[in-house]
Amino acid sequence: MTKHSKPLIQSLKGERVDPPPIWLMRQAGRYLPEYRKIREKSRGFLDLCYDSDKATQITLQPIKRFDFDAAILFSDILLLPHALGQGLSFNEGEGPRLDAIRSLEDLEKLSLEHLHTRLAPIYQTVQNVSALLPKKTALIGFAGAPWTVAAYMVEGKGSRDFIYAKTWALGAPKQFQRLITLLVKATSSYLIQQVERGADALQIFDTWSGVLPRYAFVKFCIEPILEIINRVKEVHPDIPIVVFPRGATVHLPEFVKTSEVDAISIDYSADPAWAAGSLQDYATIQGNLDPVLLLAGGLELTVQARQIVKALSNGPHIFNLGHGILPETPIKHVEQLVSVVRTQ
Ligand code: CP3
Repeated sequence: MTKHSKPLIQSLKGERVDPPPIWLMRQAGRYLPEYRKIREKSRGFLDLCYDSDKATQITLQPIKRFDFDAAILFSDILLLPHALGQGLSFNEGEGPRLDAIRSLEDLEKLSLEHLHTRLAPIYQTVQNVSALLPKKTALIGFAGAPWTVAAYMVEGKGSRDFIYAKTWALGAPKQFQRLITLLVKATSSYLIQQVERGADALQIFDTWSGVLPRYAFVKFCIEPILEIINRVKEVHPDIPIVVFPRGATVHLPEFVKTSEVDAISIDYSADPAWAAGSLQDYATIQGNLDPVLLLAGGLELTVQARQIVKALSNGPHIFNLGHGILPETPIKHVEQLVSVVRTQ
């Protein structure tokens, strides 16, 4: 069986696949009892990411349970700054904490030198999973987009508005560009390694692209992502790339027309019928059920999931959520969703 017999890859190559392939952002995580079991026995989330055997098992858990069309590497977007030398920890209940970068001096402490040695366990996970997956199931590698990763690096933690990162980006754009340039180099070479170890497709997460004004969105979100796509495709021209620019729906028609992006993951605020008319001729559409509907379940989940499938049924579509699955989501609701999408 070739790569192209995987339904997810067919869809990413622009084919209409019926029923649409399905996977869920954050499908390996706390809503799964089998994940919580491994997590309890570990020293924390980062230990899971750097332990290739555990990360392999966790990546495969949602495939075993739901037979999704794709597995996504179990890791995190913040492992890249960690590998560049930035202090990182995840403490129970409070999300990520990084030693914030607030000056050029802080920036100069980061280096590409140990990138691949530090990320070696992640590459090992990709290789393990790639060998173990059913032939029809695709493996998605990923990284954060430079803006989103930079936002956490500068802020030092999650935030609603990323005010320190934005102040630097908007107030001293030439300086800030140095951080973005470093991230473009590191991210491209990180993604290329993932492809070389067996990833069938890549996704770039720009979770915070919606907080920037348009001119800065173009400069710090679009341009760096396009450069990463070019660098990766220079080495691996056939690798499909999905971009998730959360909160940036208004900018998308121009983005899909002027880039080599294979697919856009739309967030739950976008109207699927609008995406079908304005984006789907140029890129595969991935999305976009609200994760809260999956949490709520019931008839409304069935109705809205059908609505999304129908609205996007004339072109290439990959069913997904409009953002990551919530930890409180009942397993039964996920089973219901998979069955609704596969038996239209
Ligand atoms: O999707 C998957 O199943 C693959 C693994 C994956 C994780 N994080 C695992 C994770 C992926 C693709 C990510 C991406 C990620 N990480 C993003 C972009 C996508 C998005 O959700 O917006 C961002 C912004 C991060 C940074 C991050 N990691 C935050 C803010 C948090 C804390 C919030 C939370 O959900 O706990 C994490 C932790 C994290 N990353 C967990 C998992 C399974 C929870 C860890 C745990 O407590 O067990």
